[in-house]
Amino acid sequence: MTDNIRIPLDAPNIGELEKEYVTRAIESGYVSTAGPLIGEFEERFAACVGARYAVATVNGTSAIHLALRLLGIGPGDEVIVPALTFVGTVNPVVYVGATPVAVDVDPLTWNIGVEALEQAITERTRAVIPVHLYGNPADMTAVGETARRYGLYIIEDAAEALGAAYQNRHVGTFGDVGVFSFNGNKVITAGGGGMLVTKDPALAERARLLVNQGRAPGITEFEHQEIGYNYRLTNLQAALGLAQMERLPEFLAVKGRNAALYRELLAGEAGLVWQRELGDARSSWWLFSVLVDAEQHGGDRVTVADKLRAAGVQARPLFKPLTQQSPYRKLGWRACPVAESLHARGISLPSASFLREDDIRETCRLLKTVGEGR
Ligand SMILES: Cc1ncc(COP(=O)(O)O)c(C=O)c1O
Repeated sequence: MTDNIRIPLDAPNIGELEKEYVTRAIESGYVSTAGPLIGEFEERFAACVGARYAVATVNGTSAIHLALRLLGIGPGDEVIVPALTFVGTVNPVVYVGATPVAVDVDPLTWNIGVEALEQAITERTRAVIPVHLYGNPADMTAVGETARRYGLYIIEDAAEALGAAYQNRHVGTFGDVGVFSFNGNKVITAGGGGMLVTKDPALAERARLLVNQGRAPGITEFEHQEIGYNYRLTNLQAALGLAQMERLPEFLAVKGRNAALYRELLAGEAGLVWQRELGDARSSWWLFSVLVDAEQHGGDRVTVADKLRAAGVQARPLFKPLTQQSPYRKLGWRACPVAESLHARGISLPSASFLREDDIRETCRLLKTVGEGR
């Protein structure tokens, strides 16, 4: 965090408990990819989200890569992704030699559009990767029905959505595989890291092999059954992750309270609307995000972000859609006007799990003064 930031967007919340756990890991001598805390972290995580199996990875992107490998997706296959997401959702599709197909998103939830998904399915489509954007659950009923009808695998990108639920079920557990991220800016952090969850014992077993260079757990000889990756989480990271898991209820409570305060304070404000949840969804509120209508509000999202930044309040634009990213533009996807329009208008507001109500009030006061300047 730089010094002039008074109210950060998404900084990690690290305290005494984390120091204790990490110190214990250091003192145990297990700081790398062997050590008891990795399994403990996996077990605690699986119990928390209600998954049968959880396999820790070095980050969320590698977990998506593994998921694609586990499901046998490769050259000649198409994988559908929402156009509005972080590039870590889609890059692994290219790593396995498959072809990503981006589709437009819903204008209210900002998550994968169900009609757009169905229209993009071809004979080559093998999987869909719905993303719970900014922690907001996607419509897993509709995605699930479509996937079933066309025989597609679902890899749920819940990187931003630890703590989020749809129909009282934790996101990440609807698909064949679910994926989470513990990057420093996420709901909890392990100083980087990821988690792959599944209900399928065979997939879990193979995931444990692939994260460890193709070597099965318990094999002491250097015998590798297939070509895998060095994608394991370290014991040191698991220590941090375990401490953060203990504090997850506290983080979610603060994020939920602050999101409710944003909605209360911004209700009725001309030219500002926020990302909507489905009726049976509960967001993790990873990043509370709004759309700024320049005409009505008196300033566009760049003016708003500049004004906030000048006052030490960190804000950032929504992800740039995949359709506008140079490595992907050339794939000739259908236009995704909703994703592009959301990007042109959207910013994420301070949402770190230690922000106080006063921080949210100050952010909203500044947001409103942009409008008053019109
Ligand atoms: C939606 C989404 N997918 C995937 C990732 C990749 O996670 P990681 O940064 O841990 O590789 C991230 C976060 O960075 C993300 O926000």
